[in-house]
Amino acid sequence: MTTTILLRDVVESDLPIFFEQQLDPIANEMAAFPARDREAFMTHWAKIMADESNILKAILYGDQVAGNIVSWEHDGEREIGYWLGREFWGKGIATRALALLLEQVTMRPLYAYVARHNLASQRVLQKCGFTIMREEIEEVILILRV
Ligand SMILES: CC(C)(COP(=O)(O)OP(=O)(O)OC[C@H]1O[C@@H](n2cnc3c(N)ncnc32)[C@H](O)[C@@H]1OP(=O)(O)O)[C@@H](O)C(=O)NCCC(=O)NCCS
Repeated sequence: MTTTILLRDVVESDLPIFFEQQLDPIANEMAAFPARDREAFMTHWAKIMADESNILKAILYGDQVAGNIVSWEHDGEREIGYWLGREFWGKGIATRALALLLEQVTMRPLYAYVARHNLASQRVLQKCGFTIMREEIEEVILILRV
């Protein structure tokens, strides 16, 4: 049986799960993004949850919280990002979650900044229609135009 993948708005009880998921050194290396300590993490999420222009979704895999997928505005550009707990990798969950987000977030263009070595994330974006807009020394910027 296929496990259902759904998005729903982030609630406070998701935060301890996201906190643990972002403490993973392998994920930190993959995303080229350092882990935050608990205080910094909770302060960051309190701030982004208070801003109504942010779209903050938990990714549900059956009844489990597999990770989060988010969209925010930065310098007039709408960006997206996502993070899954390692036990959920390799099952197509990020691709499905991004496809669902793209149905709900209709603003275009959308941008994603990805570490050059993060080929899995680049692949997820390309499977959902993003194309490479620019390559910099450490990151690749992908865009979804329509
Ligand atoms: C990146 C991440 C979201 C991917 O999630 P996922 O659910 O495993 O992704 P999917 O299974 O939907 O798709 C991954 C794709 O990348 C491919 N892939 C995985 N590792 C790869 C590699 N080293 N090189 C090339 N492709 C790779 C997979 O084969 C798959 O493509 P396919 O469907 O064509 O076979 C997840 O690993 C994660 O949360 N990492 C830590 C945080 C992070 O990097 N976030 C993104 C920041 S931009």
